[in-house]
Amino acid sequence: MAVNFKGRSLLTLLDLTREDVRYLLDVSHQLKAERVGFQVRRRFRGKTLAMLFEKRSTRTRCAFETAFGEEGGHPVFLSASDIQLGAKESIEDTARVLGRMFDAIMFRGFEQETVEILDEYSGVPVYNGLTDTFHPTQVLADLMTMEEVFGSLEGLNFVFVGDGRNNMANSLMVGCALMGVNCTVLAPESLYPESDLVEAVEELTEESGSSLRITSDIEAVVGADVLYTDVWVSMGEEEKSGERVKLLTPYRVDERMMEMTGKPDSIFMHCLPAVKGNEVTFEVIEGPSSVVWDEAENRKHTIKGLMAASLL
Ligand code: CP
Ligand code: NVA
Repeated sequence: MAVNFKGRSLLTLLDLTREDVRYLLDVSHQLKAERVGFQVRRRFRGKTLAMLFEKRSTRTRCAFETAFGEEGGHPVFLSASDIQLGAKESIEDTARVLGRMFDAIMFRGFEQETVEILDEYSGVPVYNGLTDTFHPTQVLADLMTMEEVFGSLEGLNFVFVGDGRNNMANSLMVGCALMGVNCTVLAPESLYPESDLVEAVEELTEESGSSLRITSDIEAVVGADVLYTDVWVSMGEEEKSGERVKLLTPYRVDERMMEMTGKPDSIFMHCLPAVKGNEVTFEVIEGPSSVVWDEAENRKHTIKGLMAASLL
């Protein structure tokens, strides 16, 4: 069945089907090829995008802003200190006002509920550019990068190592399950993902014929095609820094762990920003298995693909 993504939001990958993700990835590959070939279009001419940030960002902000702007659109950056967002005006009212002025809204911040309210009240597509719970646009870039390296996704063995209940682990589990990638979350037990999400992902794995494994045993990296990690302390959790370092030091991705995969062609991935020496050694992130810069570039192509699919 042909996918029609027009007018749709992206709040969490749980709202998407495998066909939706396939479609968004196909559009993204096509747009990347055009960009590499220096073809200039004006797809978003006359359109406006509100970009709301409660948290910092390099990649996500730049990806949205340049992807929209270079296609003739007008992105407007609004930090939490610039606008009334739940401070003096409710999120519902802010959403209604923005929806009257903008063609789409992207949001980065704390609560997943905020993107849901923006979506419910604005009447325009809303894109989740990271919350405490999910980071769906990052996973589109990750899947695109894996497809570029391996040719296809189905049957790949993917291991997320580290804070197994953060926004990246949550979103990667869903993305892998949708696309038939076998996913392992390798984390200390106190950082296992929430059981409700695990149950939802298990249902998806049944449909796609892939597997989900949650374990604290480092041996789980054997056979991995991809080792993925993220910061040990996510934005907003800074006070947990000391305990996380203690808990997660055995889970640092180093050359020994890469070798343990037993696959010389296995790759290292990270959404960035990275704390080199914590979750990954300098040798691995700067080494030949690392694809982190392609992954970062693909944020732009996939975000452009998402906006093209939903706005044009
Ligand atoms: N990966 C990612 O979302 O990076 P930023 O925090 O720099 O946007
Ligand atoms: N888990 C990290 C992801 C950054 C892109 C954070 O939320 O800070």
